[in-house]
Amino acid sequence: MSTLFWKFLKHPRQVGACCPSSPALCREITSHIGVEKASLVAELGPGTGVITAEIYRKLRNGAKLAAVELDEHLADDIEARFSDITVFRGCASQLDTMLNSCDLPPADVVISGLPFAIFPEELQDKILNGVVRSLIPGGTFATFAYLQGCILPAGIRFRKKLESLFPEVTTSPVVWNNMPPAFVYRCRNSISAGERKS
Ligand SMILES: C[S@@+](CC[C@H](N)C(=O)[O-])C[C@H]1O[C@@H](n2cnc3c(N)ncnc32)[C@H](O)[C@@H]1O
Repeated sequence: MSTLFWKFLKHPRQVGACCPSSPALCREITSHIGVEKASLVAELGPGTGVITAEIYRKLRNGAKLAAVELDEHLADDIEARFSDITVFRGCASQLDTMLNSCDLPPADVVISGLPFAIFPEELQDKILNGVVRSLIPGGTFATFAYLQGCILPAGIRFRKKLESLFPEVTTSPVVWNNMPPAFVYRCRNSISAGERKS
C-alpha cells in the first residue's frame, strides 16, 4: 500500500485521495503553463512527489522549485529526495509570505496537487488569494479536479471562483487514465495582479 493511502486513512480531510496522481495526470498538469521557461515554480501539496518529479524533469538549469506541504513527514521526504528544492512546512495559503521569508521572488508558475474539492470555501479562498499574490503578473496557476465533481454545485462554485480571480481560465482534456478521471484547470494571472491585497 502506498504512503498516501495510509495518510488518507489517518487524515482524509487533509489528504483527499488514497492514491497519487497518475503519470498521465502529472504530465497534463505540468504542460502548457510555461514550466520549461520558468525561473521559479511553486508546488502546493506535493504529497509523495509524483508531480514534483515531473516538474523537476521539465525545469531548465538554474530554475528554482519551492513546495508547501502541511504534513511534516511528507515534507521531510520531499526535501531529502529532491536536491535544491525549498520546502515550506505549513498551509499553502501562506505561500506569498513563505516565498518572501526566503527572499524568493513571486513565482512564474504555481501548480497545486491540493484536494480543493473537500476544502471548506473559506480555505479555498485563502489559498487561491495567496496564489494570486504569489504569482508574477501574467503568471500561471494549474490545479486538477475530479470529473465527477465538476457537475456538482461545489464544483461549479469552484470554477466560478477561479474565473473571478483569473482573467483567463481553460480546461485540459479529461485524463481518463487517472483514478478517478480528472482534468486540469489552467489559469493566467492578471497583468495587474501585483496590486491585489489579501
Ligand atoms: C492528494 S495529496 C496530493 C499528492 C500529490 N500532489 C499527487 O497529486 O498525487 C494532497 C497533499 O496536499 C497536502 N495538503 C493538504 N492541505 C494542505 C494545505 N492547506 N497546505 C499544504 N499542503 C496541504 C496533503 O498533506 C497531501 O500531501
